[in-house]
Amino acid sequence: MEIFKEKDKLVYVIHRNYHLLPVINRFGIKLGFKDKTIEEICNEKGISVGFFLAIVNTYHNEEYFPREELLSFSPLEIIKYLRKTHKYYFEHTLPKLDDLLKRLIASSKNNIKNLQMVEVFYKKYISEFKQHINYEEEQVFPHIINIIESRQRQPEYSIRSLENEHSSVYETLIDVINLIIKYILPDYDENICNEFLTTLSLFGKDLENHARIEDNILLPMMIEIENNPER
Ligand SMILES: [Fe+2]
Ligand SMILES: [Fe+2]
Repeated sequence: MEIFKEKDKLVYVIHRNYHLLPVINRFGIKLGFKDKTIEEICNEKGISVGFFLAIVNTYHNEEYFPREELLSFSPLEIIKYLRKTHKYYFEHTLPKLDDLLKRLIASSKNNIKNLQMVEVFYKKYISEFKQHINYEEEQVFPHIINIIESRQRQPEYSIRSLENEHSSVYETLIDVINLIIKYILPDYDENICNEFLTTLSLFGKDLENHARIEDNILLPMMIEIENNPER
């Protein structure tokens, strides 16, 4: 399993995995970083190298879990990062998917009803997804910030249900993808459809990685803090 280290050049990291581009952007890093290493760039930008590596490696590698460093990260820093990701989904990914689906429906000459069915399932998925994000933004994150700021246990509420939510949101997405692959009638523009499917499945992959940061970094950290609030 490949794990990136602080002495790796960022250009190498990108060549290894282009899907990390939006991830590094969320740290305020843009292209043009010459041959600088991760450590050099993080120091220049005032980013914690350990935190940067934990996020990038969690995205890059499903088996990666920063058990040792876990409690050295700031939950507030993680929340800031997660919120940027949510914003990226809302401002970039969803409008792109909406637009592709509209074009896909318009491309069908005689079977528009068939694609409208896809739209119904897609919209159901998006509304479930939005509910999930709102739950995190309006309940989970404020709850965590509250514990950190007050340093007090809040027993009436627990964020441990997050993991189940993630798998159900993910399953609905797979249903939409399967509906298209298995049952779409052959009256559509294949280039638009392929682009829609690829964007949708990349989004699913990105979401899986995002959820892993929430489940594997934020959650265990919060359970620890909830158990020892005065720590
Ligand atoms: Fe999230
Ligand atoms: Fe989530």
